[in-house]
Amino acid sequence: MRDSKVIAPDLLAWYDRHARVLPWRVPPGGSPADPYRVWLSEVMLQQTTVAAVKAYFLRFTALWPTVHDLAAAEDARVMAEWAGLGYYARARNLLACARAVAAQGGFPDTREGLAALPGIGPYTSAAIAAIAFERPETVVDGNVERVVARLFAVETPLPRAKPQLTALAAQLTPTKRSGDYAQAMMDLGATICTPRSPACVICPLQAQCDARRQGIAAELPRKLAKAPKPEREGVAWVARQGQALLLEHRPAKGLLGGTLAFPSAQWDGRDLPPPGPAQWREIGQVRHVFTHFSLTLRVMTGHLTGNPERGELVPLRQIDREALPGLMRKVWDMAQGEIAA
Ligand code: ADE
Ligand code: SF4
Repeated sequence: MRDSKVIAPDLLAWYDRHARVLPWRVPPGGSPADPYRVWLSEVMLQQTTVAAVKAYFLRFTALWPTVHDLAAAEDARVMAEWAGLGYYARARNLLACARAVAAQGGFPDTREGLAALPGIGPYTSAAIAAIAFERPETVVDGNVERVVARLFAVETPLPRAKPQLTALAAQLTPTKRSGDYAQAMMDLGATICTPRSPACVICPLQAQCDARRQGIAAELPRKLAKAPKPEREGVAWVARQGQALLLEHRPAKGLLGGTLAFPSAQWDGRDLPPPGPAQWREIGQVRHVFTHFSLTLRVMTGHLTGNPERGELVPLRQIDREALPGLMRKVWDMAQGEIAA
């Protein structure tokens, strides 16, 4: 049997003084944050850094101040604003969720109710329930796993340790100030109990930390060696006709689903033929790392000598770099000087 720990008072006292100021937050000790803003920030923060999310969050909430505004937005408009955040399935789920919430008149106020919405998994439902509704739910992300593995000196490697870390995290979760506590754990993991060099000397939990006592904090959590990411290859076609470029909407299902892109393929080894007749020239390659593979795309440019077989011609002056997904921005940055001059 492990010793039980009571960390909430020390952690909350630290949070009262050191909470990060972030656009979706309310100050410590205040009334709970608006569920729409909590939900939007949590969806954006899945796999994207706090620094990168701030500007997107401010822009979305300026354009769509409430979930009803977002629910009424045009899909293409939202996809364009999402461009660059990655994971386009999330943007589609975002809209589906906003519409479901608007249809039922507001956000459900329990974890179970939230988890029934499109695109909301166990982490996000717990985070919204805690932060927006003060429900004493346990919020476990990578930061929390690391802090808990260290507090209890858990030697089991990830991902096998997950259930154990979740159970220990639940044991530490207080019944009051749930939102502050959840965000205090995140802040501790992001600013003090960091992956490589935890700042144990200034940590509010140092007196209770087993890994610190054993001198193994920086080694935890242990991880099973990862398989290297597979490499994939493909081609992107940047075609010009008159004062227009050929773009196409990618299929809704699959990578970069629903985004506007230069004609390319699913990068599964079966490349599509060029989208039209031209003297194609390879101008270089771009690299992009996705969750499950790394991609090298050969960038081809050409002036169409006949009608395109797919895609739509978009006037050059309407091409908005910022509305392209990250990979296609790289293609555009490489091709622009060659084809758009
Ligand atoms: N990462 C995920 N959710 C967060 C939040 N509410 N505050 C800071 N970082 C986060
Ligand atoms: Fe993390 Fe060190 Fe604090 Fe333990 S004492 S929780 S390892 S920062």
